Amino acid sequence: MPPRKKAVPKKSAKAARVRTPAKKKTTATAKAKTKVKRAKPTRKKRGLLISFEGSEGSGKTSQISRLSTRFEDAGYPVICTREPGGTEIGEEIRHLLKHASPSTKISPQAELLLFAASRAQLVRELIVPSLDKGKIILCDRFLDSTTVYQGVGRQISAEPVHIINTFAVGDIIPDITVVLDVPAETGFARIKHRTTDLPDRMESETIDFYRKVREGYLLLAKALPERFIVVDGSRSRKWIEDKLWNELSQRIG
Ligand SMILES: Nc1ncnc2c1ncn2[C@@H]1O[C@H](COP(=O)(O)OP(=O)(O)OP(=O)(O)O)[C@@H](O)[C@H]1O
Ligand SMILES: [Mg+2]
Repeated sequence: MPPRKKAVPKKSAKAARVRTPAKKKTTATAKAKTKVKRAKPTRKKRGLLISFEGSEGSGKTSQISRLSTRFEDAGYPVICTREPGGTEIGEEIRHLLKHASPSTKISPQAELLLFAASRAQLVRELIVPSLDKGKIILCDRFLDSTTVYQGVGRQISAEPVHIINTFAVGDIIPDITVVLDVPAETGFARIKHRTTDLPDRMESETIDFYRKVREGYLLLAKALPERFIVVDGSRSRKWIEDKLWNELSQRIG
């Protein structure tokens, strides 16, 4: 993950040489000082955005929690966030999306725009500043969730999904995307034990919806193999954690 170098325009380099006083340049101390100054990095290393995807109950939140500890223990500056949410506005949108009463029929189009609004805020308020500070961001869902859930699951055509996704994120695309792949039945069996007082709109979808979601993720991963890592989410938590740690720490270097 080498920081991108800015090319120094020839003109300004020449101008700088012309402006340097001749006397100062010739003394040994001045030369040494100049050298030390040049050796210091002028830009911070850009961070890394790692998104975690997969259907409900696939183990995203569990793995993010385990991996953030591994990253921290290894001395990496790591932060965790989630989608929708991660900011004050985003969390309000999350509540609206996840727990709207059954009588509030959110249209697929409105749903798409609400997810995008939360993401647009997260990118500008948290992700970009954190990347600039060199942090590793573990993000519980990101734009691929929209592609899969609203595109494949809700059957909104690919073009508006792509345009709205691009508008929301600008040029912030995850460096690595982990897909935890589980059969729909496994995810369902895991989440039905959840203790929550409110029904979750996505969790109340049919098993068929989740089969489509799973297929959608696998198709995306196949189309973009350089960004995606697909892991068998039905293995043990520890097995998945070790597998991901090995893959991610190798890529980060
Ligand atoms: N590998 C695993 N084997 C068995 N159970 C697991 C595994 N990973 C997670 N679980 C359990 O399954 C449930 C769902 O896990 P988790 O909340 O991490 O999934 P998630 O992908 O974040 O779900 P959601 O999309 O709904 O937030 C939890 O009770 C968790 O303890
Ligand atoms: Mg979760």
